[in-house]
Amino acid sequence: MPLLEVEGITKRFGGLVAVNAVSFAVEPGEILGIIGPNGAGKTTLFGLISGFIRPDAGNVRFDGQRINGIAPERLVRRGLARSFQIVQTFADMSALDVVTTAALVKRPLAEAVAHAAEVLRRVGLSGKEHLTPASLSLQDKKLLEVAKCVATDARLILLDEVMAGLTLAETEAPLAVIRELNRQGVTFIMVEHVMPVIMRAATRLVVINFGEKIAEGTPETIVRDQNVIDAYFGEALDA
Ligand SMILES: Nc1ncnc2c1ncn2[C@@H]1O[C@H](COP(=O)(O)OP(=O)(O)OP(=O)(O)O)[C@@H](O)[C@H]1O
Ligand SMILES: [Mg+2]
Repeated sequence: MPLLEVEGITKRFGGLVAVNAVSFAVEPGEILGIIGPNGAGKTTLFGLISGFIRPDAGNVRFDGQRINGIAPERLVRRGLARSFQIVQTFADMSALDVVTTAALVKRPLAEAVAHAAEVLRRVGLSGKEHLTPASLSLQDKKLLEVAKCVATDARLILLDEVMAGLTLAETEAPLAVIRELNRQGVTFIMVEHVMPVIMRAATRLVVINFGEKIAEGTPETIVRDQNVIDAYFGEALDA
């Protein structure tokens, strides 16, 4: 059974169809990449899956159960967590506080603190527990985003452009963390514009353009897909 099934999901903002009848499934253990031009509807799609945006049509199933209209905080308890493209944190919290807050979803306070410290260690942020997120390097901020999701014991993690702004060399550490978590059983959906990263990380890709799915397949088949080249890679390669 797929871990996640998206079926004919649609979201309109006034006259704009941001996501138009998109369907795909994610099997347990996958790292699914979602790519497409700016404004294609990728972040909206994440909002629809994670309960932040109600669909106008279509269904989302997690673990075989329909989750449309279920609030994000309840979905997190069921094992579905997301990161945000635009990161906002409270200035006076430490990295440990931030991750502890996420861990509280599943644990009482004392356990949550210990769990948060362990999660920070797993993502490579040992020794930085007491720094504020604002004082972390961009790379460490990205690792903190992943840590927040991991601390909720999520089985499915949605990462929205978590590599954005990093040099290719700086993507190595977050990518290694994601792959190790994946080996330990966490399923990922990643929205990414950084092509060398998503091509290496993803087991499969879904391509979105103007709210519609235009292609789906292995990275090897997607790079040769003429529709994808016309809609996206021309622009991405120019960039
Ligand atoms: N809350 C909203 N109200 C109105 N329009 C919106 C809203 N959120 C998104 N949109 C519009 O929906 C379309 C899809 O936006 P979305 O943010 O999902 O794209 P994206 O694929 O994530 O783009 P990017 O790669 O730049 O992050 C865009 O045209 C955007 O302007
Ligand atoms: Mg986006």
